[in-house]
Amino acid sequence: MIAHSLRAGPATETEWLGPVPVRQWFAHPERRLEVDLGCGKGRFLLAHAARHPQTNFLGIDRMLRRIRAVDNRARRLDLDNIRLMRVEAYYAVAYLLPPGAVDTYYIFFPDPWPKARHEGHRLFNALFLDALHRTLAPGGAIHVATDHQPYFRQLVDIFARDPRFVPIAPWGPPPEEQTDFERYYISQVPIGRLGVRRA
Ligand SMILES: C[S@@+](CC[C@H](N)C(=O)[O-])C[C@H]1O[C@@H](n2cnc3c(N)ncnc32)[C@H](O)[C@@H]1O
Repeated sequence: MIAHSLRAGPATETEWLGPVPVRQWFAHPERRLEVDLGCGKGRFLLAHAARHPQTNFLGIDRMLRRIRAVDNRARRLDLDNIRLMRVEAYYAVAYLLPPGAVDTYYIFFPDPWPKARHEGHRLFNALFLDALHRTLAPGGAIHVATDHQPYFRQLVDIFARDPRFVPIAPWGPPPEEQTDFERYYISQVPIGRLGVRRA
């Protein structure tokens, strides 16, 4: 999985400096590309990719051991529609993913940074929304879930104030595709879900 993405080196200056051709990493680049940002241990990514073999999936996480674990499981399950990147999420969306490349983002349980003095570390801010918008295909969707109500209210607010996104029905995975964090929190606290698409 990871190795596939490294096989072809950049040839031109533009290729060295520009976004990486993620769609070409798949056997069928023309298919939908869905991105699980902060995929963690990959419970959702693996189950969803198994159920949707005609869709390409890119899992992104900054923790190498999580990416390695997902990679091992994807290989064991023979899921050739998954590719993985070990990289910081904002950097990936802002610099590595090509414009219009992504049909759907799943951003489930992003770190909430609950202390007020740490709020600046949250993934969602104006620059991140710019990057999401640039990389989404026309009509492309973003699905977010969080157990942290203040973060959820902030997300509702920043998307409501941004006319580049329109609300769609929130989507959450069926039980067999739920993420590890969802399974942990679902019986303990309400889960906020938000869906938007690129206007
Ligand atoms: C709270 S866990 C949620 C994991 C998974 N989505 C789930 O619902 O079970 C957050 C995940 O995002 C990753 N993560 C947090 N901040 C990140 C960032 N800035 N860039 C990339 N990954 C990040 C963490 O390593 C972790 O795996």
